[in-house]
Amino acid sequence: MKIKSAEFIISAVSKAQYPEGNLPEIALAGRSNVGKSSFINKLLNRRNLARTSSKPGKTQTLNYYFINESFYFVDVPGYGYAKTSKTERAAWGKMIESYLMGRPQLQCVISLVDLRHPPSKDDVLMYNFLKHYEIPVIVVATKADKIPRGKWQKHLKVVKETLDVDPRDPVVLFSSETGLGKEEAWQEIQKFLHD
Ligand code: GTP
Ligand code: MG
Repeated sequence: MKIKSAEFIISAVSKAQYPEGNLPEIALAGRSNVGKSSFINKLLNRRNLARTSSKPGKTQTLNYYFINESFYFVDVPGYGYAKTSKTERAAWGKMIESYLMGRPQLQCVISLVDLRHPPSKDDVLMYNFLKHYEIPVIVVATKADKIPRGKWQKHLKVVKETLDVDPRDPVVLFSSETGLGKEEAWQEIQKFLHD
């Protein structure tokens, strides 16, 4: 995918702030600190368009990025951040749920998991939630650079088995450090973009 333009549009906390129009949206989901914002930056060839942090909980709102004036990436706050209070977690759940369930522009969710570890309970819940509501999913197993190449397949197998991935869903091996899987991720994303 040739990136002609990529700009940050809005940090949205409620429906009224989501962009108007019918352009397709691709959302990023995953545990806090898994690398969602880094994934966006890597795909867009931008170092710091989406803010990243070594501290979990960096992204707290639905952050919209407008690409090639034709579609949006939506960076979603991560789940499973231990320091989050119960109230904050409930507010998070409501915001995410209402976005995922009530947004016809949403074409697909990129569900990021950490290749190093078996997917967490929350990862499994998210995957099942998406399947239940028939939201198309691309699973991206990231931080592959932190695992020796010879172990990639073994770890991928654990990811697929733990999530009980539908064999029709793509699972992309990825690294924001090295760019591994970038082209494959774009190929999968492009299937959800009209022209
Ligand atoms: P929240 O916004 O808190 O939900 O986190 P996030 O999922 O957006 O994670 P973010 O992209 O901010 O990355 C978290 C940390 O992991 C940062 O220190 C990144 O540099 C690092 N990181 C992300 N992707 C990779 C990767 O593929 N390889 C390595 N080695 N580090 C990565
Ligand atoms: Mg983030």
